[in-house]
Amino acid sequence: MRSGMILFISVAMVWIAGLSLAETNNGAKEMVIPSGNQGDVRFPHHQHQEALKDCMLCHDLFPQQAGSIQDLKQKGTLAQKQVMNKLCVKCHKARKDAGEKSGPVTCTQCHAK
Ligand code: HEC
Ligand code: HEC
Ligand code: HEC
Repeated sequence: MRSGMILFISVAMVWIAGLSLAETNNGAKEMVIPSGNQGDVRFPHHQHQEALKDCMLCHDLFPQQAGSIQDLKQKGTLAQKQVMNKLCVKCHKARKDAGEKSGPVTCTQCHAK
């Protein structure tokens, strides 16, 4: 009786874990973020997910939706360069200073003219 219950719970847990894994939408692997005259910015999305683990480091500021940064900038909810300064460059600089693996910090390394 007892072991049957434990078996049932284990099976249910594996099933739920599998279900939540299948339901995660990690979005595109590689992206290009538009940034007006400054030139588009290449963004390796999945590489960041693997390095950082926490989706909300970025998706606290904008939803998990293609084009959401551009939409929020147009609505005025996000200021121009807010994502760049408060997320991309801020994190890269902090990690570089801490001697951890990081990303580009100079304009032309991100903006392809
Ligand atoms: C370092 C920043 C960062 C992290 C961390 C991050 N994302 Fe994103 N994500 C972005 C950016 C930038 C976009 C593009 C937004 C746009 O198009 O305006 C995006 C878009 C998306 C989209 C919509 C685009 C598409 O291709 O469908 C999904 C879904 C998504 N992310 C899921 C996730 C999940 C799940 C995680 C965590 C496992 C995650 N993201 C972690 C930056 C990040
Ligand atoms: C780590 C990558 C990165 C670096 C380094 C970087 N940028 Fe950006 N920049 C972005 C991203 C992503 C955007 C679009 C999101 C936003 O507006 O915050 C952007 C947006 C901009 C915009 C706004 C364009 C618009 O029309 O809204 C300007 C201007 C700009 N960057 C100039 C610069 C300059 C000048 C430098 C060097 C001092 C620089 N960027 C360095 C990633 C970067
Ligand atoms: C919270 C920290 C964090 C944020 C936010 C972040 N990055 Fe990064 N970025 C990293 C780390 C860590 C690496 C190094 C990843 C690796 O080496 O696997 C990296 C690497 C990169 C690289 C180089 C990838 C390569 O090896 O070719 C680019 C380009 C880049 N980031 C662009 C961006 C842009 C654009 C944004 C903003 C939309 C951004 N990052 C936001 C932490 C961050």
